[in-house]
Amino acid sequence: MKDKVILITGANRGIGKSLVKSSLEKGAGKIYATSRDLSKMPDFGDERVVPLALEITDNTQILKVAEQTKDVEVLINNAGILSQGNILEGEISAVKNDMNVNYYGTISMMRAFAPILEKNAPAKIVNIVSIVAYSPLPSIAGYSASKTALYSATLSVRIELAKKGITVHAINPGAIDTDMNKGSNWDMPVPDGIATIILNKVEAGELDIVPDEMGLGMFNAWKEEPSKLAEMFHNMYHGEQITT
Ligand SMILES: NC(=O)c1ccc[n+]([C@@H]2O[C@H](COP(=O)([O-])OP(=O)(O)OC[C@H]3O[C@@H](n4cnc5c(N)ncnc54)[C@H](OP(=O)(O)O)[C@@H]3O)[C@@H](O)[C@H]2O)c1
Repeated sequence: MKDKVILITGANRGIGKSLVKSSLEKGAGKIYATSRDLSKMPDFGDERVVPLALEITDNTQILKVAEQTKDVEVLINNAGILSQGNILEGEISAVKNDMNVNYYGTISMMRAFAPILEKNAPAKIVNIVSIVAYSPLPSIAGYSASKTALYSATLSVRIELAKKGITVHAINPGAIDTDMNKGSNWDMPVPDGIATIILNKVEAGELDIVPDEMGLGMFNAWKEEPSKLAEMFHNMYHGEQITT
């Protein structure tokens, strides 16, 4: 990250805000910190941070921001939303919203920035996906589907850009202590430490990154046998004891 020009979406709070702080600590050259409402952007107290307004479901805004940020070398697609609800009874509008932001919004960002990154190569795309990309948790089924779709797009783009000097990283966390998990009684790590782990692993060249302990437990269960993660989520959904 040292001396690099980085763009981070959803940078006003949660993991995005922590990624800005951690990028600064790592000596980033410039950080375009985007938020859909600039009045919510914290003051990072560092002139390397350039705040920009960006709603990632609005392609006109994306293209306008891309026009202003032609020096980007690292694109971090962090912005995302999570709606509660299962497939059979959840609000269909919520399922569509999750898909619009997490999948269509993020692929619009990749489509707009790939030519810029290619010109500035070597470059990176870092997509914040989720552990539920590997197996769905039915209480957040629309979110899970959107993140599985995003993981698929991430793997496609990794191959599409492989010969163009752009590496494409997927970050698949379990649960981090942000507004997204408000009200949960899980024991979760704070986003500042997780952001540093994410950037350390990106710098080390890891492509598929699970930055937290809970996520790693789930990932290792899935790696051993995909049905093991499905069984964990079955037990969580039905309020049964988790056995792994
Ligand atoms: N927290 C976790 O346990 C966890 C686990 C796995 C993956 N993730 C992923 O990590 C990313 C960050 O999540 P978080 O936990 O930091 O959540 P958060 O605290 O709720 O922050 C979400 C950020 O995304 C922004 N955002 C939402 N919709 C947007 C849109 N349409 N256009 C632009 N920005 C938008 C929000 O902006 P506003 O402030 O304007 O709403 C906010 O800055 C998400 O992609 C999430 O799915 C989180």
